[in-house]
Amino acid sequence: MEKRRTTNIKLIFTFLVALYSSISCNYASDTISANQAIRYDETIVSQQQTYELGFFSPGNSVNHYVGIWYKKISTGTVVWVANRNTPLIDTSVDLTLTVQGVLTIRNTTTGIVIWSSTNSSTTSVKNPIGQLLDTGNFIVYEEGDINQENPIWQSFDFFTDTLLPGMKQGRDFVTGTERYYTSWKSKDDPASGEFSTSIDTRGYPQPIRTKGDKITYRVGPWNGLRFSGAPHLRPNPIYNFTFVINQREIYYQYNLINASVFTRMVLQPNGNIERLLWIDSRQEWSLYLTPEIDRCDEYGLCGPYASCNIDQSPVCECLKGFVPTSADQWRVADWSQGCRRRTPLECDSGEGFNKYSNLKLPDTQRSWYDLTMTLVDCETMCKSNCSCTAYTNTNISGTGSGCLLWFGDLLDIRMFTGTGDSLYIRMPYSELDSLRENSKSSTAGTRIRVIVPVASAVLIILISICMYYRFKRKIKQQQQVNPGNELRQESENNIRVGDEDLELPLFGLSALHNATNNFSDNNKLGEGGFGPVYKGVLEDGQEIAVKRLAKTSTQGLHEFKNEVILISKLQHRNLVKLLGCCIEGTEKMLIYEYMPNKGLDSFIFNKTQRELLDWPARYHIIIGIARGLLYLHQDSRLRIIHRDLKVSNILLDKDMNPKISDFGLARTFGGNQIEANTNRVVGTYGYMAPEYAGDGIFSIKSDVYSFGVLVLEIVCGEKNRGFVHKEHSNNLIGHAWGLHKEGKSLQLVAKCLDDSINMSQVQRSIHVGLLCVQRLPEDRPTMTSAILMLESEGPLPSPKEPGFYIGKTKQDTPQSSSSYGITSNNELSISMLNGR
Ligand SMILES: *[C@@H]1O[C@H](CO)[C@@H](O)[C@H](O)[C@H]1NC(C)=O
Ligand SMILES: *[C@@H]1O[C@H](CO)[C@@H](O)[C@H](O)[C@H]1NC(C)=O
Ligand SMILES: *[C@@H]1O[C@H](CO)[C@@H](O)[C@H](O)[C@H]1NC(C)=O
Ligand SMILES: *[C@@H]1O[C@H](CO)[C@@H](O)[C@H](O)[C@H]1NC(C)=O
Ligand SMILES: *[C@@H]1O[C@H](CO)[C@@H](O)[C@H](O)[C@H]1NC(C)=O
Ligand SMILES: *[C@@H]1O[C@H](CO)[C@@H](O)[C@H](O)[C@H]1NC(C)=O
Repeated sequence: MEKRRTTNIKLIFTFLVALYSSISCNYASDTISANQAIRYDETIVSQQQTYELGFFSPGNSVNHYVGIWYKKISTGTVVWVANRNTPLIDTSVDLTLTVQGVLTIRNTTTGIVIWSSTNSSTTSVKNPIGQLLDTGNFIVYEEGDINQENPIWQSFDFFTDTLLPGMKQGRDFVTGTERYYTSWKSKDDPASGEFSTSIDTRGYPQPIRTKGDKITYRVGPWNGLRFSGAPHLRPNPIYNFTFVINQREIYYQYNLINASVFTRMVLQPNGNIERLLWIDSRQEWSLYLTPEIDRCDEYGLCGPYASCNIDQSPVCECLKGFVPTSADQWRVADWSQGCRRRTPLECDSGEGFNKYSNLKLPDTQRSWYDLTMTLVDCETMCKSNCSCTAYTNTNISGTGSGCLLWFGDLLDIRMFTGTGDSLYIRMPYSELDSLRENSKSSTAGTRIRVIVPVASAVLIILISICMYYRFKRKIKQQQQVNPGNELRQESENNIRVGDEDLELPLFGLSALHNATNNFSDNNKLGEGGFGPVYKGVLEDGQEIAVKRLAKTSTQGLHEFKNEVILISKLQHRNLVKLLGCCIEGTEKMLIYEYMPNKGLDSFIFNKTQRELLDWPARYHIIIGIARGLLYLHQDSRLRIIHRDLKVSNILLDKDMNPKISDFGLARTFGGNQIEANTNRVVGTYGYMAPEYAGDGIFSIKSDVYSFGVLVLEIVCGEKNRGFVHKEHSNNLIGHAWGLHKEGKSLQLVAKCLDDSINMSQVQRSIHVGLLCVQRLPEDRPTMTSAILMLESEGPLPSPKEPGFYIGKTKQDTPQSSSSYGITSNNELSISMLNGR
């Protein structure tokens, strides 16, 4: 009796469970919970009934697959396949979500797992839920993750042959995943076919289509608005698109403007990349803004330095200044060898660039980029490296920004009519367009200056000294006529340097008296290399910094002139801007833009302020200093060595952009003069390269040394000079070197930086810093390579032992910082006679 009742209850219970589960199956849910199974004839459907997931069998195939297809569209277009390369041979299968959050397809007869979404199930997962979203994404997330922000797994990470709105095609550097789509083998077989469409990130990222491992089509690099080779890709009412490049990820994505429209990108088994749009009235898919792939899209059809123009016959043509590599083959339409230069490059300083327009930019596999540089810096950078063959902006919108450099041959260029991008290709002097146009052109001018750099430098100095005296007289006259009204006349009183268009406003002394409160001590910002610096406010409200040359200083006049002439010609984002000067009687002054954030030293060496400089800000400063210094070193006309680069000479503007200041000690000399000897050593201990401090030999490599010290100081937040460590007596460089050898570089990092650091950037910065402070100048990198090394990902050379200047004896080995001989002010600039 008792036994029967329990059996009955059991029966009823079983019945209820069966009833419940059959109801819940008919009422197609969009989720699947742990241990729940979807049987062969069951599906789950997204909330808005947009997509459906379940088993299917494509076309005439006898195999079965798990996939996602459109629910609302009757043709059952499949957009995703789980087990594309593991077909199921019959229907005795189900799909389950394991308690570890892994999707598996099991043989229901044997229980054997045929396919699973992931091999690793090591992570502990709490109550996983699988859900099909209305975007077409099937995600597995933990029950607690209500907003589904951190899915454990998602089908959008594993592409089949379709790019749906919202999918990210490209690379995620954080998780290390690469997302690309691969065609079906045929319309009946979803197995991976021959063609794939991915983002090539070897150089500047560019979407490519590959067949096997060969590139067959290149969409071209992103130019800020679209892909260079895809003019058809334009703003439209159906979808918008974006291409994102940053340190965490690089991807292409498009999104629907009206969510009730269906569109997809699909890579067909024959390799066609099609953008399809569902036309409801006709109940069919139709092509929408799909590039018409023509002969010119065949990768590298015309060979290097040739362009393909579909409107011409033959389609291939050498670029201007280039001739067929093999004239015979070219004649019979065998273009594979491409073209070569009519005049070979010899890497001399007269080389320049010709502009080519309306192009699809060449293959960027061997390229380098920086998204913030200007076109001018970009040209300088390309010019300074002989293997750089071309450059252009990465972003053509607005006035253009960013820098993209090509190394090696330029391949796969096509010519468009009325659209396309511009490219600046390196050319020998004799082929320069600007040369032909007229002799006044700037590039030709550069050439002349390069030939006689020393002569022109001397000339400029002579002329400006004459100018100086002439203007001095003129100002006196004008002040008598119109006293106290100097500012209005600024524009008339310009110093002209040589025949150049650089105009340097001359400020009146009384205006500066007014602006600075009669040079009151309250306005004093500090003491520069050769005189005090005051803050001032002009009548129109502009804030200025006035450097007043000390009257007693005998060396001052010469350096003053030097600085005026030099700085007025140097214009760079990372150099302090000279607004004008003032020369009256015995007074000599320089007027600069005012830097509200003062010197970098007031940040990194100050206990409270240093917290404000997180790692990204510090890195930004390091790169900025490097760019400014590169400009000084590589400027096409004059080679300028700063000679007193130190933390307090780096000023910060309101956006914390670094600006190098104080060129009073700089020297110019001709482009081919590599080092010079001086009998007056000027600089600051702790930053001086050993060969300079010891022998008075200075070169751009002594600035590189100082840069290295700066980098280490910025990373570490400690001064090189005066650095004390409780375990040893090395200075900061010695300490950094020791840690580097033990592979513990990261211990060098300032404590306040804990949260913000980017390990690889920090490690690179320390590494490059150590390369810059190597003992022998020839071992140190140039600023060009220092920047490349800081910003690229490639392997770095190992630094050799650093050099320090210690005390008055020349020594190259690490020693105690207390033996410098000078103990007072660490920031003291010194001048000493040497070698006499
Ligand atoms: C499942 O296993 C049974 C028994 O071995 C086999 O006959 C059937 O073909 C298998 N089904 C699949 C889909 O592998
Ligand atoms: C799982 O492992 C097999 C064999 O090692 C491999 O072929 C397959 O690609 C792996 N699957 C995933 C999703 O990692
Ligand atoms: C694209 O359009 C969607 C919907 O209007 C919008 O949310 C999204 O921000 C747009 N994206 C871009 C890159 O413009
Ligand atoms: C989106 O498209 C649907 C169907 O074509 C249309 O009815 C609706 O008005 C559109 N919505 C908007 C905001 O354009
Ligand atoms: C490209 O330049 C424009 C205009 O300066 C700017 O608005 C846009 O954000 C830039 N795009 C990228 C990707 O940097
Ligand atoms: C020029 O650039 C190439 C490629 O990035 C690099 O390997 C080479 O070292 C550079 N040369 C100089 C002198 O900077």
